[in-house]
Amino acid sequence: MDRDQLLRELNEFLRIPSVSTLPVHNNDCRAAAEWVGVELRRLGCTGVEFLGSETHPVVWAKGPEVPGAPTLLIYGHYDVQPPDPLGQWTTPPFEPTLRDGRLYARGAADDKGQVFCLLKAIAATPRPPVNFRFLIEGEEEYGSQVLFDLLKREPQRVSADAIVVADMSYVAPGWPAIYTTLRGLCYAEITVRTSKTDLHSGEYGGAAPNAHEELARLLTRLKGEDGRVNVPGFYTAVKRPSKTELAAWKKLPFNERDFLNKRVQGKGLVGIKQYSVLERLWALPTFEIHGILGGFTGEGAKTVIPAEATAKVSMRLVPNQKLKTVQRQLAAAVKRLAPKHITASVRFLHGADPAQIKVEHPAFRLLSQAFQHVTGRGTVFARAGGSIPVVPALASAGAPVILTGIGLPDDRLHAPNEKLDLKQLWDGIEVFRNFYELLGRSR
Ligand code: BES
Ligand code: MN
Ligand code: MN
Repeated sequence: MDRDQLLRELNEFLRIPSVSTLPVHNNDCRAAAEWVGVELRRLGCTGVEFLGSETHPVVWAKGPEVPGAPTLLIYGHYDVQPPDPLGQWTTPPFEPTLRDGRLYARGAADDKGQVFCLLKAIAATPRPPVNFRFLIEGEEEYGSQVLFDLLKREPQRVSADAIVVADMSYVAPGWPAIYTTLRGLCYAEITVRTSKTDLHSGEYGGAAPNAHEELARLLTRLKGEDGRVNVPGFYTAVKRPSKTELAAWKKLPFNERDFLNKRVQGKGLVGIKQYSVLERLWALPTFEIHGILGGFTGEGAKTVIPAEATAKVSMRLVPNQKLKTVQRQLAAAVKRLAPKHITASVRFLHGADPAQIKVEHPAFRLLSQAFQHVTGRGTVFARAGGSIPVVPALASAGAPVILTGIGLPDDRLHAPNEKLDLKQLWDGIEVFRNFYELLGRSR
């Protein structure tokens, strides 16, 4: 395949600002779905459908029928996260730019570049003997409601011999991976109100409650300095990884100091000290504050006591925890911690249960063989700190869900200057071409 041509096509996809969490980009999300639809038709798919939403449809398609061949469902997402802070991008997020063999753009690795990889691996000749099915959604970054609803109405869409999800990375350069768990997520807004309107901080300061101060206190009570989340019952369901699994993690190419210096690029790590960093990232739940709104944040100075403040927060969940339970626990904790002189409320925006995948099915071995063949190393088993809300639903009919990816740990997902190394993409196309062929011949 002509790599310049492939790059032009990928750039076209990346130029569409399909930010699913911002309504101003509704048309762009639709445009990205149409782009995927055109691509699927070019692969010879029949019955390309746009399902569940006008603006963020799930793109469904079936590849050409190959009687007797195994069925492989390909899942991915065409939506992306907001690109801000815009000022920190070296080149604009929706003007894909190649520098030093890396393609910089929002969505380059998460997940447009990887969807592109899976699709182009099919076009590579000869056509593998596989019955392809596609579910490419446009709301992954906002909780996947459209796809959840679709699968509730039509659960047979996930019936397949195997499902592949390429929305992750290698664990380190040269180390491809298969993931055995994903964390779940509970996203919420916590709002504190202290008075009817904002108040003059001279006339009222010293006696009237301040919404920002109250919110800050509430938040620091919800998570202590020791890293523990103080939501009653939060850790009850958490299952520790087995001794064998913990021992296997010690053999992975992961170094706490490199993680701090090269990836976090901060001055120190935090969290519950008695657990290893990998355990904190992969096997423990979290509480994070994403942003705090309210009060005066404009230029200059204004002396005011804010009446209302809102924090956007989320909790990552690990195997055995349940979104529904955690939502109840958080709401109860906020109620319990709020002093009588404030009104505190919790609004849940979206969420997902954690996923745990059994990896005994032979299809996992075939993917490892394909990586081995192309990159010289088979896959290692790892866990993922991130979430893909729909994975438990994809797994619900019993098909093995193969969680993998062609990105690298330093791709800067959701952050400024997201990128994809082109070597990863070219290797990835070869890997999946091999995988499809191995799978096709496994019958
Ligand atoms: N591709 C990521 C998930 C991911 C990232 C898995 C890194 C493993 C390692 C996905 O697009 C994502 O960002 N999901 C969101 C889901 C949420 C908004 C419901 C996430 O994890 O924040
Ligand atoms: Mn993704
Ligand atoms: Mn993402």
